[in-house]
Amino acid sequence: MSYQVKIQPSGHTIEVEKEEPILEAALRQSVAFPYGCRSGVCGTCLGEVVSGKIDYPDDLPMGLSEYDHKHGKALFCQAVALSDLVIEVDEIEAVGEIEVKTLPVKVASLRKLAPDVMEVMLKLPETERLQFLAGQYIDILLPMGKRRAFSLANAPFNDAYLELHIRHVEGGEFTTQVFTELQENSLLRIEGPHGSFFLRDTDRPKILMGGGTGFAPLKGMIEQLIQEGNQQPVYLYWGARSRIDLYHYELAEKWAFQHNNIHFIPVLSEPLEEDSWQGETGFVHEVVLRDFPDMSTLDVYMSGPPAMVNAGAEAFKAAGLSNDHMFSDSFEYSEDTLSSMK
Ligand code: FES
Repeated sequence: MSYQVKIQPSGHTIEVEKEEPILEAALRQSVAFPYGCRSGVCGTCLGEVVSGKIDYPDDLPMGLSEYDHKHGKALFCQAVALSDLVIEVDEIEAVGEIEVKTLPVKVASLRKLAPDVMEVMLKLPETERLQFLAGQYIDILLPMGKRRAFSLANAPFNDAYLELHIRHVEGGEFTTQVFTELQENSLLRIEGPHGSFFLRDTDRPKILMGGGTGFAPLKGMIEQLIQEGNQQPVYLYWGARSRIDLYHYELAEKWAFQHNNIHFIPVLSEPLEEDSWQGETGFVHEVVLRDFPDMSTLDVYMSGPPAMVNAGAEAFKAAGLSNDHMFSDSFEYSEDTLSSMK
């Protein structure tokens, strides 16, 4: 059983399942409600119920006064619908409206996805959540004012943890620590979200082109599109040196298998003999161009090393793609420390 919730003043309508918090339903359907803690404490998700009935299965949340409750205000991270609703919420319209926070995090788990790629899952304090858009990044704050930027690999509807894919850079101070010293329950500080690499709401087919761990923000974007039931064509091109570097190959294959609109095209630049590679080879942007010689009707999202992003940008422009439909997230490594350029 589900209810319809009309949101004012945007005019958006969402479906809310029985007992599903209204904020959760909104994020699932890519409607950008403001939020902070997602536990009824901070008051960021406050709005008004214009008509219909809501309930709080766990009692009135701490962040909502009796007075506000009686006067129709509601905390949508906790409220569930008991009928169709009309509500008033100030949706986030621009990325600049999302609050950038500095927060402590705990390392919840570490998992090697490839010999030089670590999945790091970060847990926020119980009463905190980080609002972000799929594709954005966070900074990890280090001693001496240093910081390292990493893309978020999960989507906001699934934000109990923050997922990072960290590649070990030879001689890189922080990434070496990730592979040698960092442990479960280690504490870090983060700042975010940052960046303007996020999905735009258009009806154009989307090309998502990633190089190496540039796959991370694209993973968040695809998970978001799947969650909201988006049926627009999505072409994921993922370039890497050899098969082992496509560290989430099976996951990408599963997306393509389960969703007719999602296509996965892996591209290797230096396949090993043991890879017995039958797929595409060469530069990933050249494979994209071969498949789409006219790019004037597409949206393109690129994430990876600057050489890949720059080569793609130049070639795609020449193929008719305008700047307004090209979005990129580029990162770079220096020899002795990791520096990120977003
Ligand atoms: S009270 Fe913090 S997000 Fe709802």
